[in-house]
Amino acid sequence: MTDLPHSAPAERNKQPILDVLRKVLPARGRALEIASGTGQHVVWFATGMPQWTWQPSDAQATQAQADSLATIGARVVQSGLGNVMPALLLDVMAPQWFDQGIEFDLIFCANMLHIAPWATCAALMQGSVHHLAPGGVLITYGPYLEDDVVTSEGNVAFDQSLRERNPAWGIRRREDVQQQAERAGLRLLQRHAMPANNLLLVWSRATV
Ligand SMILES: C[S@@+](CC[C@H](N)C(=O)[O-])C[C@H]1O[C@@H](n2cnc3c(N)ncnc32)[C@H](O)[C@@H]1O
Repeated sequence: MTDLPHSAPAERNKQPILDVLRKVLPARGRALEIASGTGQHVVWFATGMPQWTWQPSDAQATQAQADSLATIGARVVQSGLGNVMPALLLDVMAPQWFDQGIEFDLIFCANMLHIAPWATCAALMQGSVHHLAPGGVLITYGPYLEDDVVTSEGNVAFDQSLRERNPAWGIRRREDVQQQAERAGLRLLQRHAMPANNLLLVWSRATV
């Protein structure tokens, strides 16, 4: 696997995330991963939660992102897993992600909101509402700013470096993300503090 593009943070955070997924989710279900990146997460989760089927996806806004689908595919083939579907091209900004009626018990999105324009947040929430099965959850993971929590020095520096790379990027306020979720018809169900000053947030439909 060493020759495939590799994310060191994904390698570090995949087990802590899996530990929470196992606690929060039922024994089996159907999962959609948004912004799968290198595919390290989906392979790890599919290995650790074999009774779930996993649908990886990523957008193709740049050549690097086009390669992401091939990387995910290669990593899945190397893993030999039978419960991961071929990676799909999915830009959260697309007006319709899938045909109506295609639903998932989990929609998982790690580390996209701060490395994409702010409009992707509303798009993620609205698309998720359309494609969550009854009782399903959206889980977002990554760094957030929070009004009542002192921001770590690491996240202050990370936010600054993101904004220097692209003024449309930056760590999002959890409260702003929550507002977008609520507008779309989701509510924040759980907040899990994760290693390295990240959060794992569990969102469900506001009305069941
Ligand atoms: C920092 S990487 C995170 C990858 C992986 N989820 C992880 O945590 O290691 C950000 C990902 O967001 C994806 N992305 C950016 N804009 C997107 C969009 N509009 N729709 C879907 N994915 C997007 C990028 O292609 C990239 O794979």
